[in-house]
Amino acid sequence: MFPVGLSSQAKNLLEVVATVGHPYSMRVLSGIQPSGAAHLGNYFGMMKPAIELQAKTSGCFYFIADYHALTSAGDAAGLEARVRDLALDFLACGLDPERTVFFRQSAVPEVHELAWYLSQVTPVGLLERCHSYKDKTARGLAANHGLFAYPVLMAADILLYDADVVPVGKDQKQHLEVTRDIAQKFNEAFGPVFKLPEPSIREETATLPGLDGQKMSKSYNNTLELFSPEKEFRKKIMSLKTDSTPVEAPKPVEGSLILALAKPAAGEAQYAALVASMQAGGRGYGDYKKELFELLWEYLRPMREKRAALASDPAWVDKMLAEGGAKARDVASGTLARARKAVGIRP
Ligand code: ADP
Ligand code: TRP
Repeated sequence: MFPVGLSSQAKNLLEVVATVGHPYSMRVLSGIQPSGAAHLGNYFGMMKPAIELQAKTSGCFYFIADYHALTSAGDAAGLEARVRDLALDFLACGLDPERTVFFRQSAVPEVHELAWYLSQVTPVGLLERCHSYKDKTARGLAANHGLFAYPVLMAADILLYDADVVPVGKDQKQHLEVTRDIAQKFNEAFGPVFKLPEPSIREETATLPGLDGQKMSKSYNNTLELFSPEKEFRKKIMSLKTDSTPVEAPKPVEGSLILALAKPAAGEAQYAALVASMQAGGRGYGDYKKELFELLWEYLRPMREKRAALASDPAWVDKMLAEGGAKARDVASGTLARARKAVGIRP
């Protein structure tokens, strides 16, 4: 009934909502950076679980993290277009702006004020231990304050909306732990202002692999974009990394990239048939790649069609994001007032 991987506390909350049915009794929040087009890892790790949670509560807040994207984009001119494109991607996948507050992070600049208050209780050592900071600087990104303080801004995003549950992929788990740590330290120092949020991570799609077998990520250039043109999508799938098992031999299923990518999109019987066929041998990887292409291309068809329809009205997307921004700002101002009072800043 509930997504796999929800903590027991989050499950309790969902149960309360199911029985009491009180709107806004559980708040769900998540964000995604407009650092490129949405890919299958984003979809199965975060977007799909977030979209499914819309049916459990009317308290969903989802946003496009444009402030966060400044740590990596370096392309101010293209940012606006990427925000709109990603908003279209999310809407096409099923985000319902009637049920969910959907907005740009920058519609609520107050998040920086909260981040500053949170900074006062954030140990430098905590941020130094963050994998994402360590990975990015190891790959050559400048170790500047924006990248370093990224998790504090993310904590402010989450705490500003009193989020109970945060659906994310596994790579964000540590950032959620940091958020809880910061909230706890703030509450100890200034009084009980913040709720402690729970991550919601689905074990079966916690880390979807990319074309080369590493985690699918825009940073690794190994992504399958949800809405790429057919030719490109096919070409990328045909380039999947495979081993040198001969055509007639059974194919290893443990650690198979083809199976890992097929699993979340296939029906149970379809997936079982694919596994059985690989174990039987007699077909080459080229065949399986074609089958994977067909499977994913069909799976994405309804979303692709919806996206094409939505893209014809960019003004509607802008208006909807602006309305979401106003609602989000309204909620944020209440939390910020509590935080200001706690730290002794007059409203
Ligand atoms: P990227 O690594 O491509 O830059 P983001 O950091 O924008 O992706 O991630 C947005 C959301 O999608 C996050 O919740 C993240 O955990 C999730 N996500 C990203 N890649 C994957 C993946 N390969 N498998 C599962 N979830 C993922
Ligand atoms: N750091 C997240 C990512 O890279 C994006 C994000 C920013 C986020 N603020 C958030 C996710 C708040 C969940 C909650 O994917």
